[in-house]
Amino acid sequence: MNLNKLGISLAHLLPPELSNKFSLEGLKILYNLGLLSSISNQDFQDSIGEQILGLNFPNKIGVAGGLDKNADYFHVLGKLGFGFVEVGTLTLKPQSGNPKPRIHRFTKEKNIVNSLGFNNVGIYQGLKNIEKNKLFFDGVLGISIGKSKETKIENAYKDYLHLIDYVYDQADYIAINISSPNTENLRDLSSDNYFKNLIEKIMNKKDQLNGGIKQSKPFILKISPDESFENLEKILLSCLEFKVDGLILNNSSVQHSKNLKGGISGNYIKKLSEDNLTFAKKICGNEISLISSGGIMTKEDVSKRFSLGADLIQLYSGFIFYGTDLLKSGLEI
Ligand SMILES: Cc1cc2nc3c(=O)[nH]c(=O)nc-3n(C[C@H](O)[C@H](O)[C@H](O)COP(=O)(O)O)c2cc1C
Repeated sequence: MNLNKLGISLAHLLPPELSNKFSLEGLKILYNLGLLSSISNQDFQDSIGEQILGLNFPNKIGVAGGLDKNADYFHVLGKLGFGFVEVGTLTLKPQSGNPKPRIHRFTKEKNIVNSLGFNNVGIYQGLKNIEKNKLFFDGVLGISIGKSKETKIENAYKDYLHLIDYVYDQADYIAINISSPNTENLRDLSSDNYFKNLIEKIMNKKDQLNGGIKQSKPFILKISPDESFENLEKILLSCLEFKVDGLILNNSSVQHSKNLKGGISGNYIKKLSEDNLTFAKKICGNEISLISSGGIMTKEDVSKRFSLGADLIQLYSGFIFYGTDLLKSGLEI
């Protein structure tokens, strides 16, 4: 049994939320001892990289939002061989999230259901962690931001605009998360009532910041896989109109029959996420960069997403169930 498989087996003996923490802390210890190279892919770290979204990605496989919620581990994940890491989702104030247990792992089927609810240390501490760990990170850093639980939906835009001010200097790209199923009403932001107005305000903010002395940063929107194609088309057309730089397709889905609160990730949403990607590619062509996330579990999945039009790929469940194996096989593509 290799070190990667041994680590996963040990970690999966624990309850899922504890196991995530245990695994990431374990990797950090190996990192601090200078031993991480034994399970990381050194060849990949020497690659010359690729320009996407105006950024130089060391490779096209990244870590999806939510694995490093508080920006404690992204330098370690970079050392493992990921080309980019999206930290967060961070909110304005610290939040404890929903009651536990709130992560359920289905090991045989390779699915995860979570109802975390943006548990995080808040933007102030998050930025401190980012500043500290960025010194040891060569990849592309995305910062995911979200509305606080207590912020009324009518005022959600204020949270995003504030958070953009906070993260702008530290982020390589900013991910706008309006698609978590675990913050009440959050997904209403992608409805007719709110979306166009929200995205206009956010993209105006980007223009304001770019118009000053600041360097231009890509703004990326993370979309739910549960939109009807009719509404998805409206969302995509607004994104084209307001020149959103990138889209992440998708977050977790509430279309499951697990009798548990929360969104499902992993194998179960593979097809949903492929269909969303295909649809987005058809509408957006090459105007908007597409990041595929959802059910990417095998090397074949990785190739398929690129063939369907993904510019980049993010892993969450694939990393939880297969560790760095998928990352290594993805590198050969
Ligand atoms: C436990 C857990 C926590 C997550 N937290 C976040 C989050 O804070 N922000 C976010 O944008 N996505 C979050 N996600 C969604 C993932 O980033 C990813 O988009 C989703 O799991 C689909 O990818 P997968 O099938 O590879 O897991 C979370 C997913 C899981 C399983």
